[in-house]
Amino acid sequence: MSQEAIVFTGSLETGQWGEVRKIGVPEVPAGMLLVKAVAYAANPTDWKHVALGMGKKGDVIGSDVAGYVEKVGSGVNGFKVGDKVGLTLHGNISSVNGAFQDYVLVDAPATVLFDGIDESKVLSPGSHGPGAIDSFEAAASAPLSLATMAVSFLYNSGIPMDKEANKDKTVLIWGGATAAGIYGIQLASRLLGVKVIATASRKHHDYLKLLGANVVIDYHDADAIEQIKAAGEGKFVYALDTVSDASTWQSLYDATKGSSPVTLDNLLMLNAGNLRLDPSRDNDDVKFKQTLVYQIVPESQGPIGFGINANKDLEAKYQQFSSNHWASFLQQVRTPALTVLKPGLLSANEALDLLRLGKTSGEKIVWRHN
Ligand SMILES: NC(=O)c1ccc[n+]([C@@H]2O[C@H](COP(=O)([O-])OP(=O)(O)OC[C@H]3O[C@@H](n4cnc5c(N)ncnc54)[C@H](OP(=O)(O)O)[C@@H]3O)[C@@H](O)[C@H]2O)c1
Repeated sequence: MSQEAIVFTGSLETGQWGEVRKIGVPEVPAGMLLVKAVAYAANPTDWKHVALGMGKKGDVIGSDVAGYVEKVGSGVNGFKVGDKVGLTLHGNISSVNGAFQDYVLVDAPATVLFDGIDESKVLSPGSHGPGAIDSFEAAASAPLSLATMAVSFLYNSGIPMDKEANKDKTVLIWGGATAAGIYGIQLASRLLGVKVIATASRKHHDYLKLLGANVVIDYHDADAIEQIKAAGEGKFVYALDTVSDASTWQSLYDATKGSSPVTLDNLLMLNAGNLRLDPSRDNDDVKFKQTLVYQIVPESQGPIGFGINANKDLEAKYQQFSSNHWASFLQQVRTPALTVLKPGLLSANEALDLLRLGKTSGEKIVWRHN
């Protein structure tokens, strides 16, 4: 049996990423599920795999998908044929499996049940405001960002899931309107109960406050760092840079001066060596973390890259968290705005280019399989 997939054939320069090709439908090994795709979402990692030379020509593009469970591998509990699910996988590295194809093979623990999807709700191409996860498009928008934020806040932060104990703790999310930030704010405020200070363009402030941010500061303001320090009152225990370029990483460090000890995390493997350290600060009290979602994607999906190995401890903790908390959390969670492209695998080309050119703001790019 064969299926269609969009595979890398183009180049970074042309903006023409992929072409639709026929590939085989894999057998379903023990512990895995085969999911019939209904909707896809694009992530920056999909084009960055090409830019960083990690994705090669012929690899299937894509990391986020939502659809129906088509087949259940032996030994899998908790899923049955026909379940509505969303999943993230380490795509862009394999010629046989990625997210943007008809049938996606995925490890059961990396799959999330989305009972709240209304199958009759089909979002038309165009802009849609943020909302609940009640459509396949919304479900596709969530898995990678949510899993990434789970690694950052529930593992790297070291903050216990104890709202009472966390009442006086404050976290900073630089880039509150990234897809990661939108889910991170909700996770930090609802599950950890910490005070959240975020940065974002002014147009997003009301929405981010609705999601649980206590204070939102426009990062374009000349005195943004001073505003953050004042709002943080020296109580930052954790700060995450969801944008993770040289300047935002430096800003995160500068804005947390006065809070000690504090842990700084980012999503693009930055560390202390990427900072101008302030000699007047107690830098021994600043800890550095790097969040990489692929650490919780089972090894069966291929090499992680960046010289990093799978983290079994983290994978097990994520799976425990996922089975205990995702179901109730997902009933309340709100998505970014959704920009819906026209149906079909080829919309991946437009989606990746919008992300590469930095044209998204507080939104996820999603589209239907057909
Ligand atoms: N390590 C991992 O496992 C992992 C996982 C997911 C993503 N990532 C990486 O994390 C980054 C974010 O991914 P994403 O999909 O969440 O992003 P995204 O939604 O594509 O980010 C777009 C947003 O970035 C915000 N932004 C741009 N420059 C900013 C700045 N200087 N300060 C604050 N906000 C700024 C904009 O906010 P405004 O609209 O407010 O201006 C915009 O809404 C990407 O680099 C991605 O590759 C890594």
